[in-house]
Amino acid sequence: MSDTTEIRKGLAGVTVDVTAISKVNPETNSLLYRGYPVQELAASTSFEEVAWLLWHGDLPTRSELAGLVERERAHRRLEPEIRAIVDTLPTTAHPMDVVRTAVSVMGAVDPATEDSSPESDLAKSERLWAKLPAVIAWDQRRRRGLDPVEPDDDLDYSSNFLWMTFGRRPDPVEVDAFRVSMVLYAEHSFNASTFTARVVTSTLSDLYSAVTGAIGALKGPLHGGANEAVLHTFDEIGLGPGAPDRAVRWLDEALAQKRKIMGFGHRVYKRGDSRVPTMRAALERLVEHYDRPDVIELYTALEQAMTERKGILPNLDYPSGPAYSLLGFDTPTLTPLFVASRVTGWTAHIMEQRAANALIRPLSEYVGPDERHL
Ligand code: COA
Repeated sequence: MSDTTEIRKGLAGVTVDVTAISKVNPETNSLLYRGYPVQELAASTSFEEVAWLLWHGDLPTRSELAGLVERERAHRRLEPEIRAIVDTLPTTAHPMDVVRTAVSVMGAVDPATEDSSPESDLAKSERLWAKLPAVIAWDQRRRRGLDPVEPDDDLDYSSNFLWMTFGRRPDPVEVDAFRVSMVLYAEHSFNASTFTARVVTSTLSDLYSAVTGAIGALKGPLHGGANEAVLHTFDEIGLGPGAPDRAVRWLDEALAQKRKIMGFGHRVYKRGDSRVPTMRAALERLVEHYDRPDVIELYTALEQAMTERKGILPNLDYPSGPAYSLLGFDTPTLTPLFVASRVTGWTAHIMEQRAANALIRPLSEYVGPDERHL
């Protein structure tokens, strides 16, 4: 390797572009969406408003919001050809593979796929966002041998998502915890999946291809797959009486085996993930609602032990995993829920990238054999 080239493995610490969509500040442990602290948005805005904010840069007026809500409700249903393709996939397929396939099919059947004008990309973003809940809800139901539940146009995004998944009217506590998770997961600057979406867009490829690529990146357990992996950890430890002691023993063994503890650590935040306190509070409300103190006992014991042993703090996947599980989602469905939310951030970045594009094509330092001849 030459002495002059500095290699930043994993692009750690490298600033590759500007963005006006969100600001992550690890020093102040804060996350702003278009200038608004995410905690404030989670406290009082709907996910529909946050979607608009990410796409347009400002919160919607009353009539803009009414228009978005109307379009979201109009696009909730899956076209028969998309449902038919989901149906051909085995129920053993990972739900992330199902969602990735569904988005790919949406791109194949949309006559506007190749139209990447700002208006067309925005319309596609809204449609994708509106349709993903139907894919995710239907996939969980078909795995359980249940019939699909048609969307209810009287319900908002979050209530309807839970309705289509479980076929019963959700309690306001459930709806609110779910809404909070959607708001918190929506956007996080140049994370791996968003960067993937921007790389694909930078080649002037279409929005569906960029989102399909982003879903592939999100699936990995070092990124979005961690919320699912947290549930596997909880299963390994086992909920119920004695869980806190078991959690500490489990952690010591896992660390001795040099395992990564899922739901802990972050590439950018080193003093704690700004979103965790808000999601933990939502989890606590669910724990109370379902009367499941054992969940928070295990949660707290593992968090405390991890902080003592390694000084590594939880990320958003740590509280969201058990929250989704309490709501009734199957463990493999957890990362698709992250997709349903992050599609707003991804598509905002796709439009931002396209508006000031440069092909993303870094260099590499060759370390193979010197030139040689046959
Ligand atoms: N469990 C155990 N050790 C961890 C850890 C975790 N979750 N996260 C970081 N570490 C340790 C590493 O082993 C490494 O130790 P070392 O210096 O002794 O080798 C050190 O902390 C630095 O970790 P590194 O993996 O280099 O940091 P990173 O910035 O590349 O990693 C993550 C960030 C997110 C990939 C990493 O924390 C991780 O794998 N977390 C678990 C997966 C997860 O929850 N992902 C969701 C992220 S939002």
